[in-house]
Amino acid sequence: MAEPVEFRSEDGSLMKLLKYDDRYYVTHFVGNVKDHLAAIDAMDVREDDTFIMAYPKSGTHWAFTLAFMLRTGETAYRGSPTFLDYTDMETIDKLPSPRVFATHIAFELMPKQVKEGKGKVVAIFRNPKDVISSLYAFLKKVDHKDFFRCHNTWEGLLEFYIEGKIYYGSWFEYMKNWDKVRREHKGNNVMYFIYEDLIQDLRSQVQRLALFLGVSFETEFLDTVTKRCTFRNMATEATKTFTPSEQWKEFTKDKTLPIYRKGEVGDWKNNFTVAQNEHFDRVYNEKMKNSSFDFRFE
Ligand code: A3P
Repeated sequence: MAEPVEFRSEDGSLMKLLKYDDRYYVTHFVGNVKDHLAAIDAMDVREDDTFIMAYPKSGTHWAFTLAFMLRTGETAYRGSPTFLDYTDMETIDKLPSPRVFATHIAFELMPKQVKEGKGKVVAIFRNPKDVISSLYAFLKKVDHKDFFRCHNTWEGLLEFYIEGKIYYGSWFEYMKNWDKVRREHKGNNVMYFIYEDLIQDLRSQVQRLALFLGVSFETEFLDTVTKRCTFRNMATEATKTFTPSEQWKEFTKDKTLPIYRKGEVGDWKNNFTVAQNEHFDRVYNEKMKNSSFDFRFE
């Protein structure tokens, strides 16, 4: 069973997490983590299920929206995904097909049937400096009764991030696990997206995703999906639409969705000092020296 843990940074910032089996989770993970992970492991996966996998703030909503449009053939903005992490299995089992889920858990904790090749996984990754900058902005907006009310300074949050004492653990460990998946996973049901590639040429990534999901559409439809999934369009739609899954709106100080903020590559420069950046580069170069992933930071 998960145990609550708290960390304090040098400057007094606070991080509240759940720890289970040497990994950190957010406090609103279903149940006691252990039982829900067991239920996820045993999940009844359908052939046309899609799972968006991402470290928080890496473009989860973006990949979800793209996949949902391609899976359903509908281009209306859909809101936030159903997360495996925060939804009980009874609800998950009742959802109509095609189901598109999101999750921040590690691949090795995914449903057994997924690891055996059933369903499709779309993993999206983003350069770690923009990830933490996005998380910092997100945390400043959120005000939830016991979760996230942590009063983190940028310095404190960066310290937690580098040490891996943060929601879903270390970004570097997350990437290391994915390197292992790339080497060892036998199925051909995993596709890799890089956030910066989507920013650079969304249309060609939409094509890749359609091919991977095995859906065929007219060029015109793929053009429409591309247009609907620009940052500007999704941000505008999110202000108009309220779906029950947009629960984050309830948890923010100004009751707006804290997801669509800037959608850029390189915004980290507004947070990192020169010294913090040099230190982060040293950590990155050391921890990522054997990685098969390569990120662009601007
Ligand atoms: P920023 O805070 O840097 O703007 P997640 O969905 O994993 O929580 O990630 C949220 C981040 O993805 C936010 O980053 C958000 O703006 C960005 N994002 C969401 N939709 C996007 C889009 N269509 N284009 C570019 N970035 C997008």
